[in-house]
Amino acid sequence: MTFLIINGPNINMLGIREPSVYGAQNFDALQQLIRDTCAENGIDCELFQSNHEGAIVDKIQEAYGKADGIVINPAAYTHTSIAILDALKAVSIPAVEVHISDVKNREDFRQISYAGMACIKTYMGLGFDGYRQAILYLKDYLSK
Ligand code: DQA
Repeated sequence: MTFLIINGPNINMLGIREPSVYGAQNFDALQQLIRDTCAENGIDCELFQSNHEGAIVDKIQEAYGKADGIVINPAAYTHTSIAILDALKAVSIPAVEVHISDVKNREDFRQISYAGMACIKTYMGLGFDGYRQAILYLKDYLSK
């Protein structure tokens, strides 16, 4: 099983960026957690982070025929990007959406998730553990 794990803009700034919202752990720690979770579950994973919408669209398209599942935190593009929604729909790879913070209880402009419309499940407000749960959910979903 091969998963593509995508993180959008400013996720590389974890640890520096608004620690009261996103926690004190940095992006390296997040990547390690993702790699460890995948390794423990026999999943091959590719990690991708970009601050650019088109690069994320390109990466989703490249996953066609290669990845079995996608875990995606599109960050701010969650709330604006129909292009990422369309890319996820185009490749039809089962995808799970993750948000570190509890987006539902934040500003009004964060209440819409375009990418989420193409995802089978969303985890939010669980910190880094949301990624672990997303990987386990996707593995279970694909094993059935
Ligand atoms: C986020 C929530 C988004 O609203 C925000 O723009 C982010 C991070 C999260 O993981 O909580 O950059 O996706």
